[in-house]
Amino acid sequence: MWRDKLDTSVTEKVISLAKKRGFYWQAYEIYGGVGGFYTLGPLGTRLKDNIIRVWRKIFLEPYEFIEIESPTIAPYIVFEASGHVGSFKDAMAECLKCGNKYRADHLLEEKGVKVSEATSLEILEKLLNEKNVSCPDCGSVSWKVSSFLTMFQTNIGPYKENVGFLRPETAQGMFVEFKQLYEINRARMPFGVAQIGKAYRNEISPRQGLIRLREFSQMELELFFDPLNDKCPYLDDVKDIRMNILDEEKVRNGDTLPHNVNAKEAVERGFVREEWLAFMMALSQKFLCTLGIRPEFQRFKAKLEGERAHYSAQTFDHEVLTGKFGWIEVAGHAYRQDYDLKSHSIKSRSSMEVVEELAQPIKVKKKLAYVDPSKVKRDFGDKSSEIFKLISSMKPFELAELLEKDGTIIANDIVIGKEYFIFKEVEETISTRKYIPHVIEPSFGIERIIHAVLEHSYNEKEDRVILSLKEEIAPYRYAVFPLVKRDGLDAKAKEIYLMLKIRGLSVIYDDDGSIGRRYARADEIGVCKAITVDYQTLEDNTVTVRDRDSWQQKRIAINTLL
Ligand code: GLY
Repeated sequence: MWRDKLDTSVTEKVISLAKKRGFYWQAYEIYGGVGGFYTLGPLGTRLKDNIIRVWRKIFLEPYEFIEIESPTIAPYIVFEASGHVGSFKDAMAECLKCGNKYRADHLLEEKGVKVSEATSLEILEKLLNEKNVSCPDCGSVSWKVSSFLTMFQTNIGPYKENVGFLRPETAQGMFVEFKQLYEINRARMPFGVAQIGKAYRNEISPRQGLIRLREFSQMELELFFDPLNDKCPYLDDVKDIRMNILDEEKVRNGDTLPHNVNAKEAVERGFVREEWLAFMMALSQKFLCTLGIRPEFQRFKAKLEGERAHYSAQTFDHEVLTGKFGWIEVAGHAYRQDYDLKSHSIKSRSSMEVVEELAQPIKVKKKLAYVDPSKVKRDFGDKSSEIFKLISSMKPFELAELLEKDGTIIANDIVIGKEYFIFKEVEETISTRKYIPHVIEPSFGIERIIHAVLEHSYNEKEDRVILSLKEEIAPYRYAVFPLVKRDGLDAKAKEIYLMLKIRGLSVIYDDDGSIGRRYARADEIGVCKAITVDYQTLEDNTVTVRDRDSWQQKRIAINTLL
């Protein structure tokens, strides 16, 4: 079945249920609320923990990938090296009358004008003004567009020159610690490092509940591999997972009917560049299916060049269809190449290379670059010594590589072109090979997943709400009820409740109100089974077990509950 629509009302119903029953709600409401900040309530935190547990089980445990927890604040230099200081920006439209600010692309999209992340600031401004896009607050139609750095900036210690940022992704924690992690993992390649934690993005005007947050939780995995040996040994394990993929060609042509292929076919047919990337996408689909989102409501949409993050050679957004928000991205799968490790290696002057012993020594040609001091002195005068200082800290082959790639070297804002270097080629016999690993990154936003899962679990039956959450993630697996709160039924029910709790099962006890009301309350928060203690229990140690989704009841012996 391929459906491309969900009932749009489900979104509002889920948002209202989430608040009423304690999954999530907007934070700081007593002060009017602050956009982009949400509080997870008691049920939301349980759901989140369970989602994380399933993720670890699918992405980490079978492959012995490791996990770390790095700081959420990093010094300026980390995000300067990673390219975020230069690129982590959104186009911001400022209303020239009231001064309110919005995402330029969002305002245009709401007016039906399609733009991409690659559209320039000038064109966005022209479009907003020409299409008479009105300000949502004051109705004015004149705009100025500029770029806004979406990282939260702070100071580290009492020094204003010590600028730091709250991390916009957990990933950099893995990259800056790569060498240490590689050693801890006994220098085995390929290997994966994960991090689960908070990330921060100072969104311009977040207005979509849990979908666009300024503080949110990520589950990210960096899979480090050798680009010359890039086979993923697990493709057969995911051969039955067929994914809906909109590859770059389909996206470019506006074709929304996806290919339906497994990971191996996706690589063979050229939709996905790397086996590890296709494998992670397949695991990602398995993960969302385990959370209760059927495959026909999932798709992988390629990002075109210019829309991708600065570090990525190929990206697929893993999207889920929702009611009001349409297709939303819940994960991004990116081929980050060696972008981050190389950038940190250059900036920190610490090697990020791994060493591989070769079976046979081999001869290789190597390009070396040496600066031409007379040319530099002639053209850069007083600044020459600064340039020599930077260049002397780099090895001739690193210089050659960088010049080949970028065509220039930048030293304290001075741009030095290739023409200031003399290139030589030498032949070397080597018995070890050094390389900077490439990276495939699946990156998940937990709050978005929570919202999507709730929408896809939401059902109504006879005017009652049932949250059909899968057993693996339901906040509670069991509820224990005494039929009435007297005659020893409550004491017996409490005994069973404690017995289940001691065994580590997630269980609630409720004796408040009629049994019908209690069933309804349990259904609404997704409790899988309701165990009721009645008068027969006192005679024969049996209870009724009611299934949340079918409402069918079975009588079983208490000792078979475990
Ligand atoms: N690490 C990818 C992202 O946060 O967008």
